Parts: sequence; C-alpha cells; structure tokens
Amino acid sequence: MKKNVQAFIDEQIKSIRNQVGDNKVLLALSGGVDSSVVAALLIKAIGGEKVVCIHVNHGLMRKGESEEVIEVFGNQLKAQLIYIDASERFLKKLEGISDPEQKRKIIGTEFIEVFSEEAHKLNGIKFLAQGTIYPDIIESEAKIKAHHNVGGLPDDMDFELVEPLKSLYKNEVRECGKALGLPESMVYRQPFPGPGLGVRCLGAVTRDRLEAVRESDAILREEFKNAGLEGKVWQYFTLVPDFKNYGVRDNARSYEYPVIIRAVNTIDAMTAEIEHVEWAVLDKITRRIIHEVKGVNRVCYDLTPKPTGTIEWE
Ligand code: XMP
Repeated sequence: MKKNVQAFIDEQIKSIRNQVGDNKVLLALSGGVDSSVVAALLIKAIGGEKVVCIHVNHGLMRKGESEEVIEVFGNQLKAQLIYIDASERFLKKLEGISDPEQKRKIIGTEFIEVFSEEAHKLNGIKFLAQGTIYPDIIESEAKIKAHHNVGGLPDDMDFELVEPLKSLYKNEVRECGKALGLPESMVYRQPFPGPGLGVRCLGAVTRDRLEAVRESDAILREEFKNAGLEGKVWQYFTLVPDFKNYGVRDNARSYEYPVIIRAVNTIDAMTAEIEHVEWAVLDKITRRIIHEVKGVNRVCYDLTPKPTGTIEWE
C-alpha cells in the first residue's frame, strides 16, 4: 500500500459518505476477509443501522460456514443480518453445466438476482457493497477468469456499486482489517472464492461430489489446525474431479472419486508456491478422507506452483 493504512481508511470513509449520503447500503456478507473488512468500513462510515448485511447460502459454502457467519455477525457483532438459504435454487441452475466460466457467470448472476429480490423487499435500497479487490479486476480484464464479483454482473443491474477495496491486494486488505479492529481469526482467515465449492467440484456440480468436497475440506482444515498450520498457510483446500478411479476396498474392487489437496503460499495471489506439508500430516489427512468421506478411495497432493497452475483448478 502506497499510503499508510489509516490514511487509506480515512479516505475511504469520506468517499463512502460522499457516494451514499443518507442512503442504506446492502452488503454481500460472505464471512470472508474481504466482505468482513467492507462491513467494518461501512459501519464506521455510515453506522450499523444503515448497513444491511445479507448472507446468501448458495449451497456451495464450506462446512459450518453459514452457521459461523450467523454467530459472529448476527449474534456477536449485532449487525443487521438477513440470512437466505438459496441452496436449492443455485444447485438447480448449475445442473449439467460443466464449463467453469459458465458456472461462475451463473453463480454471479443468480447472486445478484437474490440481492435484487431482497432489495425490493427492503424498499428502495440503491447501493450494493462488494469486497472486490485489485487482482479480481485485473484478472478479469485479462480474461483469465470471470471473477463473480466482476464478470457475472448483468448489464441492467439496478444497484450502484460501493467497492472500497478495489485498489488493494489481499495482504493490504488484511492490514486494513487489523487497523479497523477486526479479530485476528477473521483477518487471517484463508480466502474463499465467491463461487465457493462450485469451482472445486470440477465439471458439472453433483450433490454427491459436492458433499465429498465439503467433507474432505472440513477434515483438511481440522488437521491443518491440529498441526499448527492454521493461519500459517495462505490457502488450503480440497477438490474433487469429475471422474472416478479404480481401487480396492473390503477385498473388492471399488470405483470411486479421488480427492486432490492443494495448499499454497503467496503474497498477492498472482504467483504462488506450494506448502511443504509434512508426510505424517498428509498421511493422517489421507487416511481420514478415504475412511470418512463417502465415495472417495484415493487422495493426491498437488505440487504445482502458480504459474503454471492457477490456485484453483477451474
Ligand atoms: P487463481 O485460481 O486465479 O486464484 O490462482 C487466485 C485467488 O483468487 C481466488 N479465486 C476467486 N475469488 N471469485 C473469487 O471471489 C472467483 O471466481 C475466484 N476464482 C479464484 C482463489 O481462491 C485464489 O485465492
């Protein structure tokens, strides 16, 4: 960040006040670092009563994540929080769609539609805040990926966007979060893509594979925490491809899905190096996944840096 953090925050608070005046702002609160920092900035700028936080569960959240958002923002921080369970709606729209960019567009468009519906119910909210950050914009411009908070917006969108973090890299967003007094657990939370597990359930999203991604991801996070890696590794997750492989289980041939583990470190998400996870930790995670996750018989570890691999597979 060129200026110091406090100067940036003061500048954004002024600019938010100028942009929205006395109006209410709707915020897409995913519970991730970016939207949490936007929430804190907005509350500081215009007061909690004018900030209407909406958490949409698109059915592609990590295990326990929506519950945590409700607990932290609704119960503890007492934000104005509206919870919408739109899982079925998203999963129906994604049925049979295997192209990653199309999946992102569908999720992004559906997201905006859910917001529009809620905004109408709330009567006349014109502003929509988003946690768009700088890499989202440049990667979209380079057409590497259509990030859902940029590429998926319909042309006739009837919100004016408030995007106070759009000039920042991830590490700068965290600095802002700290300066705004957010708890460390929230500030150092690993990033989670807008389209969620939808881009980690490769190809056309199916319920069985989505469940396998969610359950294996929960095991990975638990074991990284046990191994003291939580908050030390930048991003770690599992993904499930859309093909099965042969194996053996209970003395019989099995034909099930593999799970791939990815764990990377980066400063700005533009390049990344893999985390050298200890074999004992990987071994434990593997054994838990093959025994606890339904329909999975094999686990692989992705050794690819970015470039040539992106962090996500889709
Ligand atoms: P890639 O896969 O491009 O990811 O190396 C860089 C960072 O961006 C996240 N990511 C996304 N975030 N919407 C988002 O909000 C998306 O569509 C999206 N795709 C990737 C990814 O998790 C990583 O942190």
